[in-house]
Order: sequence, then C-alpha cells, then structure tokens
Amino acid sequence: MRIYRTKNYDEMSRKAADLIAAQVVMKPDSVLGLATGSTPLGAYRLLIERYEKGELDFSEICSVNLDEYVGLSADDEQSYAYFMHSNFFDHINIRPENTHIPNGLEEDTALECHRYNRVIGALGGIDLQILGIGSNGHIGFNEPGDAFVPDTHCVELAGSTIQANARFFSSPDEVPTAAYTMGIRSILQAKSIVLMASGKAKAEALYRALHGPVTPALPASILQLHSHVFVVADEEAMSERFNPF
Ligand code: PGA
Repeated sequence: MRIYRTKNYDEMSRKAADLIAAQVVMKPDSVLGLATGSTPLGAYRLLIERYEKGELDFSEICSVNLDEYVGLSADDEQSYAYFMHSNFFDHINIRPENTHIPNGLEEDTALECHRYNRVIGALGGIDLQILGIGSNGHIGFNEPGDAFVPDTHCVELAGSTIQANARFFSSPDEVPTAAYTMGIRSILQAKSIVLMASGKAKAEALYRALHGPVTPALPASILQLHSHVFVVADEEAMSERFNPF
C-alpha cells in the first residue's frame, strides 16, 4: 500500500488524476472501475482538461461503475449514470457503448446483479479501480455488515449513507433506500486500486480502514489485503489519531 498525503482536496484530485492518467497512457485499452460522489469530481475535471489538451485518449477505454440507485433512470439527474455523463463521459472521447453502470430501473434484482457480474467478467476484470470511502467505511455501496458480499448485489442503504447523500436531493425522503453495488470480490480483483478521501468526516473511517482489523463492519478495511493500493488522502482525512505516514 502506498499512501499519498496531500495538503487539500485540490492536491488530492491532482495526485489521483496523475495515477489514472498514467494508467490510461500505459494501457490505452484499460478497464477503469469508476466511482461517483464529491470525492472524485476534481480528478474527473483534471482528466477532462488533459483530454482537451490532447494528452489523453479514452477511445479504447472501458469503464464499469461501482453502483447505482435502484429506481432511478439514467436520465434522472440524481442517478449515478447522469452524474457520470454530465461530469465525465460527455466531455471525453470514451465510447458510450464501452461505459457500464448498473441499470437502476431493472426491478428483477437477481437478473440485474447477474447481468452486471457478467459485464465485469466479460471485460476481463478491472485494471484500475477508483474508490471513495463513506464516513461509515463503505466502498461502493458495500455497507457495514456481518459478511463481505463477493459479487454485485442489491443493498438496503445504511441510514448514515442516506443522510450523507441527502445533500444531493431536495429532502432525505427522496434519497432512494436501495442500490445496486459491485461486490467486494470484483473490487479486490482489480489489478490496482486508488482510494481517495478528503475531509474530516472521513478521518475515522480512513484510519480504521488502514490500521484497524479487517472486518465487514468496516468494508474498506478489506483493502489491507490487496497488494496494489494507492491511498490518496488530504490532511483532514488523515488527521485521525496516530498516523505513522
Ligand atoms: P463522497 O462519497 O465522495 O460523496 O464523499 C464517497 C462514498 O460514499 O463512497
């Protein structure tokens, strides 16, 4: 595990964008595992800038996103499909048919989970997985629980997640209560992983992920078992208790 401690959000975004850009340059047909949320937004903006300058080419890149709310269509402004298009895909030359996100409108959850697992399998797995971390330690929507769930599954969102994500909706009642998420096995099978974290709200979860026991009660702790993880976190996110880095 390599840990980059950055001064602030902007520096975190730059470092993460550097790592993603390096992957795209070294393997132009990479499969990128992508995340939504406030954390990766700055990195996506920087990658768009580099694409506009002609430094990056996404024409052979494939992407698989971590998760999607159940019940939201791709053109719903709150959906993760909409987020990815408006904040990244529509501004680079990735082919729409090479981008993959769980279908929030599929009501047959078993069918959708199976389909999405097959999509990830058919791509041959993920080269570089981008992750944020929830303040409860979730990765994707793998919420704290009694066991790690290996494959794509449909989850009831934790109360803390609904609260955290309510800022994107007009009221907490509008936040969907369930989501599709990639499972822990698909994440761990990624060849390398970039875990990003910014802000004090993530400090305790990040500390427990890096230094605590590996436990499904703190899903991000499983990353301790992966041999190629880059943690890119700002000072506030790294501010919890003793920090040897
Ligand atoms: P955030 O979400 O980037 O919006 O903080 C991260 C997460 O919940 O995984």
